[in-house]
Amino acid sequence: MSIGSHTLASPVLLAPMAGITDLPFRRCAHNLGAGLVVSEMVASDELVRARPDVVRRAAGAGEVDPLVIQIAGREAYWMAEGARLAEASGADIIDINMGCPAKAVTTGLSGSALMRNLDHALSLIEATVGAVSVPVTLKMRTGWDDETRNAPELARRAEAAGVQMVTVHGRTRCQFYKGRADWDFIARVKDAVSIPVVANGDVLSCEDAEQILARSNADGVMIGRGAQGRPWFLTQVAHYLKTGERLAPPSWAEQGRIVSAHYRDMLSHYGNELGARMARKHLVWYLEEASRFFPDDAMAVKSEVVRMREPLAVLAAIDHFYERAANASVDAETSEAA
Ligand SMILES: Cc1cc2nc3c(=O)[nH]c(=O)nc-3n(C[C@H](O)[C@H](O)[C@H](O)COP(=O)(O)O)c2cc1C
Repeated sequence: MSIGSHTLASPVLLAPMAGITDLPFRRCAHNLGAGLVVSEMVASDELVRARPDVVRRAAGAGEVDPLVIQIAGREAYWMAEGARLAEASGADIIDINMGCPAKAVTTGLSGSALMRNLDHALSLIEATVGAVSVPVTLKMRTGWDDETRNAPELARRAEAAGVQMVTVHGRTRCQFYKGRADWDFIARVKDAVSIPVVANGDVLSCEDAEQILARSNADGVMIGRGAQGRPWFLTQVAHYLKTGERLAPPSWAEQGRIVSAHYRDMLSHYGNELGARMARKHLVWYLEEASRFFPDDAMAVKSEVVRMREPLAVLAAIDHFYERAANASVDAETSEAA
């Protein structure tokens, strides 16, 4: 699958998630082989006014390739300026957010609220496409509510305006994250356009990925929450889609290295205090993932590390846990072989 001149490493993409897909997490997923990683949403006007936290969210030039920066907004002028600045900061692809359901965003009439007024949505898309020379992509929901599932029309008009890929989260805005994503509906978007379509929503297993692609006929799959605590999941999905065979998760020793490198990266990206705080949710997810195999030990370490204040102590606890897990699995293999 390609976006403009960028051929993706695989058709399995990491979804943008505010507060989660910051540069350390994207770098981690990218290094593990994700097909594409997308920045957290950044407000186009704040990007232009260069609030330091906004610029930090969008950073990543030269580190993740291609660099995709997602912008959100409600005014054509700011979208164009934001896109221009993102391109100047090294973005290889600009993604427009028309899917965010949060009230703070939709009452500002951006995010998924744009799906209520396609003429206005189109004016933002045209301004963005016209402002940059890099490809522009669009992420949307199926519509605002059950009565107005207009994603196929938005996609068709976006393609005509020069958008080069669309991603559809199979829920309406009014569903927020409730119910199930409608994978079949995404097929209507696929039928409406000839640019690549990426299907998104509720993919938690390799079989889910196979199903969403079969039912939507989409070109790729985007995974958000399913990658929390297991950024290697995207590579497992890509392998399964390509070969029909299951790829084992990284060994416990390797997982220990991944978690530790991610944690250290967060400390250096944000500074020790903020980094340690921001990393806590990732550690919780990593340990919850590990608790499927080592329930007592992983849950005990989880409640320990969320209370720790000293990053070195957290790192030591993490290292020891994965060492124990690695030894336990070697023991299990040895006794199996005996
Ligand atoms: C915590 C969180 C933050 C999100 N932030 C964004 C965002 O910044 N931009 C965006 O387009 N979608 C955002 N999303 C939506 C996801 O990209 C994705 O469409 C949604 O989670 C469904 O996919 P999943 O079931 O694989 O998680 C966010 C989702 C979550 C859970």
